[in-house]
Amino acid sequence: MITDRNILIVGAKGKTGSRVEARLNRAGITTLGVSRSTEPAFDWTNSSNWADLLDGVDAAYLTYHPDLSVPQAEGHIRLFCETAEQARVQHVVLLSGRGEEGAAQAEKALRESGIAWNIVQASWFAQNFSENFMLDSVLNGELVVPAGTSSEPFIDIDDLADVVVAAFMEPGLHNRLFEVTGPRCLSFAECAEEIAAATNRPLRLTEVPMAHYVSALTAQGVPDYLVDLLQTLFADLFDGRNAHTAPGVREALGRNATDFSEYARKTAAAGAWNTVTSGAPA
Ligand SMILES: NC(=O)c1ccc[n+]([C@@H]2O[C@H](COP(=O)([O-])OP(=O)(O)OC[C@H]3O[C@@H](n4cnc5c(N)ncnc54)[C@H](OP(=O)(O)O)[C@@H]3O)[C@@H](O)[C@H]2O)c1
Repeated sequence: MITDRNILIVGAKGKTGSRVEARLNRAGITTLGVSRSTEPAFDWTNSSNWADLLDGVDAAYLTYHPDLSVPQAEGHIRLFCETAEQARVQHVVLLSGRGEEGAAQAEKALRESGIAWNIVQASWFAQNFSENFMLDSVLNGELVVPAGTSSEPFIDIDDLADVVVAAFMEPGLHNRLFEVTGPRCLSFAECAEEIAAATNRPLRLTEVPMAHYVSALTAQGVPDYLVDLLQTLFADLFDGRNAHTAPGVREALGRNATDFSEYARKTAAAGAWNTVTSGAPA
């Protein structure tokens, strides 16, 4: 087990980066968490300070924004790996998504880099319902999704973070791809039922044509680039290609992945779906 390392976390304030950094720090591992808003800053679109940032870094966890499937990701990951190799970084763990052609190109850039690697290839995050673009829907009691989506084995990203940390700490796991999913496939209707049961509040599922979904996102103020990305991801990833589970959590951790009902229970208990009330009665 390796514990004396300095690990760069790209996207340290994000959903998975924050979890990975907290776990590494609890294990006594030094980290440098970066993104555009940190000091020093890291920006995927500006490589001018990457060599300086990587000086003295042993390993790195990479989350790409907005998504590893966008066309510019491959070039940025390739450039990062070249810079990391020159800085003698020994190991890079890359977060990726299942069934995404663009992401596969970025993964290839890391595999070809000559640096020890791990790819954590994830299904859709359960936390999209509580920490991402579906939170508002859940809080409003109506989960709106494009019609005709297949089921998905949503991954609890607490499991995903455990897999990333295991990849850093266990050299025997290096140079492997872990395809991580939850233990069963659920439709969005089943997710809504699970969340309703956990919150003890109704959550209606409304399926709409893609064009209506896109208009609704725009009306909510979701930026255009994210609307376009979500349209592509829903069209590509919910066509049935990912409607199966994968054993990555068990392969890396030797235990089962967390079920969606447990994710919903703990998320409700933590208050993530508490509705905001203006002026509670005395
Ligand atoms: N959501 C899913 O269901 C899902 C499923 C599979 C895979 N993934 C993958 O997950 C990755 C995202 O990971 P995540 O969800 O942990 O991250 P995240 O929560 O989306 O955010 C990570 C951080 O990225 C930073 N950021 C934004 N633009 C940046 C830039 N140009 N340069 C550097 N940092 C930037 C932001 O901080 P600042 O504002 O401070 O820069 C943000 O806090 C994506 O690559 C996606 O492909 C997601």
